[in-house]
Amino acid sequence: MAVDLSQISTVATEPGSLPTKMAAWVIREDRLGEPKDAIRLEEVEVPEPGPFEVVLRVMAAGVNFNNVWAALGQPVSVFKYGDHPETGHHIGGSDASGIVWKVGEGVTRWKPGDEVVVHCNQASYEDVEVHGLDPLAAPSQRIWGYETTWGSFAQFCKVQAQQLLPKPAHLSWAEAASYGLTYFTAYRMLVDQAKIQAGDKVLVWGAAGGLGVFAIQLCKAAGADAVGIVSSDEKGELVERLGAVGYINRSEFPGIMRKGDETPDEEKARFKASVGFAKRVKEILGDSPNIVFEHVGKATFPTSVFTVKPFGKVVICGATSGFDLDFDVRHLWMRQKQIIGSHFANAYESTRANALIDEGKIQPVLWRTLPFDDVATAHQLLRDNQHLGKIAILVGAQDAEEGRTGEGPGAILAEVGA
Ligand SMILES: NC(=O)c1ccc[n+]([C@@H]2O[C@H](COP(=O)([O-])OP(=O)(O)OC[C@H]3O[C@@H](n4cnc5c(N)ncnc54)[C@H](OP(=O)(O)O)[C@@H]3O)[C@@H](O)[C@H]2O)c1
Repeated sequence: MAVDLSQISTVATEPGSLPTKMAAWVIREDRLGEPKDAIRLEEVEVPEPGPFEVVLRVMAAGVNFNNVWAALGQPVSVFKYGDHPETGHHIGGSDASGIVWKVGEGVTRWKPGDEVVVHCNQASYEDVEVHGLDPLAAPSQRIWGYETTWGSFAQFCKVQAQQLLPKPAHLSWAEAASYGLTYFTAYRMLVDQAKIQAGDKVLVWGAAGGLGVFAIQLCKAAGADAVGIVSSDEKGELVERLGAVGYINRSEFPGIMRKGDETPDEEKARFKASVGFAKRVKEILGDSPNIVFEHVGKATFPTSVFTVKPFGKVVICGATSGFDLDFDVRHLWMRQKQIIGSHFANAYESTRANALIDEGKIQPVLWRTLPFDDVATAHQLLRDNQHLGKIAILVGAQDAEEGRTGEGPGAILAEVGA
């Protein structure tokens, strides 16, 4: 049955009861590929909340790179994980703002009508790691809306109650949906993993991207100096507005990028280019960075390990350019550097990071707020690196301003061209 897009912002029931069907953007195992083709609009059943679960009416959703990976089926198919085998569909979307519509058995902290945002980490309450180490260490740990279905690109989504956070009143639905996944990830990487301190010097790759815009703001808030690496001067201007002491347009240093399968001479040339790059970084920061914020992976990792100061830390959460990293390990051991892996954030970190948004100390950085029809197109923009900061999708909300009920700074609009 064709989905009537004019009805997306209306639902037939009041909080407390659910309709039977909803519109959702769905990926299926037999049509993985480019996001514009793989993510399609369908009518599906509305899920019921299980024990300690909540079904939200999605007012707005945030676009993240993980749903690009899900569409491509790379590096692995999401259909191997979580509840995918049971449902047969992937409704992506790991960021949402919305209204609690129905709560499952055992939920006491939230009630129908509450306005919330969502962090995307799930784990079973029965795993002991949840109760003493970190939910990210639990065997059951999953990223909601990536390793599970029932994500936010639908009129309703299903989450664990522990994923809910109060929606900052001064943000619209669109602004509130835009920051969770990338901001909470950047928070854990810098605050809890790299243990950022005032006076630190930080190199941030992809500084105008989803993670980068928050990494730069967190450095500023912590009293650390950040240099942002970007691919255009327009992006550099945005990064300076967010608080970086300077930026480097990486197109000036094309020779630093590792392609793989290089000859010894090509490797030597790449190393020479990295020496020049590290020198420029040092000039901007006044010293070499003692933290490098990594998520580009294959192309940049050797330069990251080389450029970070002796005893410094390279903290990494992703690998957009490729997962097979190699680098000259002598730069690591001789200079006693550390590589730290990091993955999203736990509920406590997400709560603390969300409080900084509530206090107006960190702001969402929104590039576009798009209608529900544009979910597949928005992911293709991300895939093609045509964006700045974050993209929000209107679902229940009818315009980009809806949902703002308090005073505060709102989102920084990334208006310059990419
Ligand atoms: N583990 C986790 O919890 C977690 C959480 C969030 C994201 N991630 C992963 O982290 C990666 C980045 O996420 P994001 O949301 O920040 O994505 P994004 O919005 O696409 O930003 C990434 C930035 O990286 C830069 N970049 C891309 N290719 C590059 C290359 N070859 N060399 C240098 N820079 C390059 C681009 O900036 P310029 O073109 O301006 O340089 C781009 O803006 C993704 O792979 C994502 O899946 C992981």
